[in-house]
Amino acid sequence: MIRKIGVMTSGGDSPGMNAAVRAVVRTAIYFGMEVYGIRRGYQGMIEGDIYPMQAKDVSNIIQRGGTILKTARSKEFMTDEGIAKAYRQLQEHGIEALVLIGGDGTFRGAVKFFETYTIPAIGLPGTIDKDLAGTDYTIGFDTAVNTAVEAIDKIRDTAESHDRLFIVEVMGRDAGYIALNSGIACGAEDILLPETYTDIDEVLERIDMDERRKKTVHILVVAEGDDFGGADDLMKKVKERFPGMDTRAAILGHIQRGGTPTYADRVLASRLGYASVLALKEGRTQVMAGIVNGEVTYTPFSQAVKENSTISKDMLDMIRVLAV
Ligand code: F6P
Repeated sequence: MIRKIGVMTSGGDSPGMNAAVRAVVRTAIYFGMEVYGIRRGYQGMIEGDIYPMQAKDVSNIIQRGGTILKTARSKEFMTDEGIAKAYRQLQEHGIEALVLIGGDGTFRGAVKFFETYTIPAIGLPGTIDKDLAGTDYTIGFDTAVNTAVEAIDKIRDTAESHDRLFIVEVMGRDAGYIALNSGIACGAEDILLPETYTDIDEVLERIDMDERRKKTVHILVVAEGDDFGGADDLMKKVKERFPGMDTRAAILGHIQRGGTPTYADRVLASRLGYASVLALKEGRTQVMAGIVNGEVTYTPFSQAVKENSTISKDMLDMIRVLAV
């Protein structure tokens, strides 16, 4: 019977993390557990930045972006000494189980931790990148895509008014889901992703064809981690090939990580936060709770971080057709 659990957010923040923390805290309290908040992810765990949480501590946060627990990417946790310190702190605080909310780095950290130490732990997928296996959506992805869509729609107004080509860079160091989905939703002429090889000559050729067809507006959405490069690299090539073209680049950056979570992210976070505590009660451990086809599922941390690109060639073909 678990009496004390710790909850933390780790890695890049994502909208909906607060809703997840709220659900974890309230579900645990409902079932008679004590809950401790661990500030700044693994770094706070190492430093013992741990405090008791009550139901009222998570009032009025379901609608707030960011994370009240704060977050960090801890280099120290990647060392054996760091992990040992973190484990000692958990023991000193009497924490018997963990809920870890984060992305790829968080679960990689967890895998390393559990090579040496054992404590029941459930993960929740909190990342705008949607780059985890074992869940159809991650907490924050929907909000981030909607933020990108709103921004690109605005950019299109200017592109239309000035007959311009715009290169819009969205987030995604290793994953192109934000680029793909925002690009489709905004009717982008081209979308460049880390998951697929970008042939720059083909990209330029498509722009040229559009020009010949008297298409005067182009929106190219590129993920920051595209294999060819980001907006600046693309801009150089476009300017070289089309020196007379009115061209601008916009890098959306961290606006995609903040803001009020959409209803979809709040519901996802609430469902998974609730499920994580039930999972601990059922004796599950070292698994990430996710939702696949509407049902809660559990995937081992080591599997959740495995490359799982669901970007299909059909989608990319569709973009070209719809941009005709
Ligand atoms: O993992 C989420 C993410 O926003 C990536 O898309 C991006 O590459 C990275 O984090 C940026 O991290 P930071 O905020 O540490 O610069």
